[in-house]
Amino acid sequence: MLDLKITAANLPDGRQNIDIGIQGGKIVAVEPNLAAEAAQTIDAKNRLVTPPFIDSHVHLDSTLSLGMPRLNESGTLLEGIALWGELKPLLTADAIFDRAKKLCLWSIAKGTLVIRSHVDVCDDRLLAVDALLALREELKPYLDIQLVAFPQDGFFRYPKSRENLLRALAKGVDVVGGIPHFERTMQDGAESVAALTRIAADHGLMVDMHCDESDDPLSRHIEILAKETINHGLQNRVAGSHLTSMHSMDNYYVSKLIPLIREAGIAAIANPLINITLQGRHDTYPKRRGMTRVKELMAAGVTVAFGHDCVMDPWYPLGSHDMLEVAQMALHVGHLTGVAEIKSCFEAVTANAAKTLNLANYGLAPGCNADLIILQAENPIEAIRLRAERLAVIRRGQILATTPPRETTIHAKSLKRTLDFTHANLFAS
Ligand code: FE2
Repeated sequence: MLDLKITAANLPDGRQNIDIGIQGGKIVAVEPNLAAEAAQTIDAKNRLVTPPFIDSHVHLDSTLSLGMPRLNESGTLLEGIALWGELKPLLTADAIFDRAKKLCLWSIAKGTLVIRSHVDVCDDRLLAVDALLALREELKPYLDIQLVAFPQDGFFRYPKSRENLLRALAKGVDVVGGIPHFERTMQDGAESVAALTRIAADHGLMVDMHCDESDDPLSRHIEILAKETINHGLQNRVAGSHLTSMHSMDNYYVSKLIPLIREAGIAAIANPLINITLQGRHDTYPKRRGMTRVKELMAAGVTVAFGHDCVMDPWYPLGSHDMLEVAQMALHVGHLTGVAEIKSCFEAVTANAAKTLNLANYGLAPGCNADLIILQAENPIEAIRLRAERLAVIRRGQILATTPPRETTIHAKSLKRTLDFTHANLFAS
């Protein structure tokens, strides 16, 4: 007797009419016409059933602080950092906890059940570290949170970064972060990458660095990150977040750089909503889009994941923490409109993100955790097109959240009908 059976599911890989059996919080069967009885059955009605969304890059400590103490007038990264610096002394652990928890509830509702959040360690009180560690613990049954120790004001530029970062790791923060482009010089940036990867190697931890988040084509810290990753044997445990300078780099140089990223097994995390908002601010026309070279990185076999990065904070005034909105923006900004490319955008917020975060037991196969979403869409492409409702969000076989199907009624007499915006398409998965 199964705990739960989901029938008539369409899967992200294109299989249709599949039944999924769940027992003890695990997937135990994925096959057509599953005979086993179950305590509860959900008919997916040939809608897409997928492992949950993953946000590979967000800042839970600053989230939902928009307007505190003022708004970002220039729209730049640097004014955002300055503004966050004004807010920091006013922060309390309770306020950080409450805002981050509210965002996590939005995440659950939107089917995002894994979040990698950076946490600023350039506050000697480490209030945000304590608040987010407490939140990680409280939400453990519902949501996985990975925390990255992030020296927002620079590893060398802020005098106590090293000490604070090591304290944060000792408290249980999972990943080593960095921000080489914010150090005082390129040389300091390079040295910060070397020092931080050394710390990660010594502690047996993963690395996720804000790297080259600028329009400066000569910002090449990703090259150093690749070298140090190989030096320390950290292949497949390192991510370069943003990498926006790659958008502006010389094409010849990039033809050497992308294979180097691949050789180092570094994953690229693009943050399309934020990259297109913060980058290109010094341009007249044409204005650069700023997002890293997602199409070329994917084509070269580099693992690419997407993050939301910011939701209503000093850097970005909008957002509801919807990873389908992120995938949709990436697709537009990156000219990723081919069928395989749209599917890759879906993978960048699901399977590729799981690979980037080194998650265990993620997926839709027997033995994986029974963490699933049922979407109001037939396939990944329709899911992105419609930013489809998450009809049911399931974690370890338990229903965590439900949303009714989206439907519009046309009342005009001669047109009277209901619409759900589905349309038979040629993208048959
Ligand atoms: Fe970030």
